[in-house]
Amino acid sequence: MKQIPSACPVRSDRPLSKAADIAYIRLGRENLESASEYYQDFGLDIVEKKEDRILFRGNSSDLPCWSLEKADRDFLIGLGIYLHSSEDFERLKTIPGAEFLQNGRINSIPCVTLFDPSGLPVDVMYVPEEKNKNPIDPTEELWNYPGESRRANLPRPCESRPSKINRLGHAVFLKQEFLKNASWYCDTFGMIPSDIQILPESKEPVIVFLRFDRGEILSDHHSIVIASGITDSLEHCAFELKDLDEVATGREWLLGKGYHSSWGIGRHLLGSQIFDYHRDPAGMLVEHYADGDKFDNSVPTGIHLINRKSLYQWGENMPKDFLDTKLSLQKLLELWKGIISGRRISIPILIELKKVAEISPRTWIKY
Ligand SMILES: [Fe+2]
Repeated sequence: MKQIPSACPVRSDRPLSKAADIAYIRLGRENLESASEYYQDFGLDIVEKKEDRILFRGNSSDLPCWSLEKADRDFLIGLGIYLHSSEDFERLKTIPGAEFLQNGRINSIPCVTLFDPSGLPVDVMYVPEEKNKNPIDPTEELWNYPGESRRANLPRPCESRPSKINRLGHAVFLKQEFLKNASWYCDTFGMIPSDIQILPESKEPVIVFLRFDRGEILSDHHSIVIASGITDSLEHCAFELKDLDEVATGREWLLGKGYHSSWGIGRHLLGSQIFDYHRDPAGMLVEHYADGDKFDNSVPTGIHLINRKSLYQWGENMPKDFLDTKLSLQKLLELWKGIISGRRISIPILIELKKVAEISPRTWIKY
């Protein structure tokens, strides 16, 4: 499908900044201890532990990428984004409503907090690239291929341990106002829509996979995803691992600890990641992935129809509860609040999206 529908988010000609990467996610958690135990089994390392906050990191950086904060409910508090341009940082400080924190939010890096159209706080930090990276583990895993035995006389070692997480890769946000929020991330941070998914009947766009524009330097296919939703919420977060073995090692460890897998192992279609999804003790989806697509800024936006099958090329059957299509009282209340506050929410789009999300991806799976 080549023609882009008119109401789709597009890359901005003159964005306010060109951001470089997702920095962190902040979550409120009622039970900090169970969440902390879970995320260590998931593969994150604790950087700092206080009574009301625990910070975690991956191996790629000493800076925290995951903040669990004591709260009276489980919810998304905010996210962080890195810039590699100090000029861009200074420009964002001047946006009306922006809040400047000299001592940073969850690290000591000065940050400016903006608010996306849903009201979500977005902390923006200027970090020179070289100061944000640990060296990549150079160990090469040896695979045997037909005609090329690279592991001659060597059995495959197998360790029992949590995954070694490289970094926070992406976060998927549901928003009541899809286009307004998606366009804000494009216009404010120069993000590029890598792929957009549209509904089969109305052809309305409902999901956009956004990547950072780093020119000729490769970026993840998506670092932020915006999807239409009944509520404004965090759908899942994903962490980058080295390879398939690392994904399977993490899965084995979590299953051995008594946690239940949500969906996996499989390979996505848009972004191509080999994925494995789990749920944390609060029920939030978290993903281990490897081998995701990397694009520079030359790749144009792709447009695709949305359905459950469009989420994967191969993999385990997708369980019915992987996509949360249930209508709770809380969700309906949020929807009503959104409507009376004047948000542009399309009920027909939400109904069509729910209908599409309830169709099983394989004929033999009866939902
Ligand atoms: Fe994902």
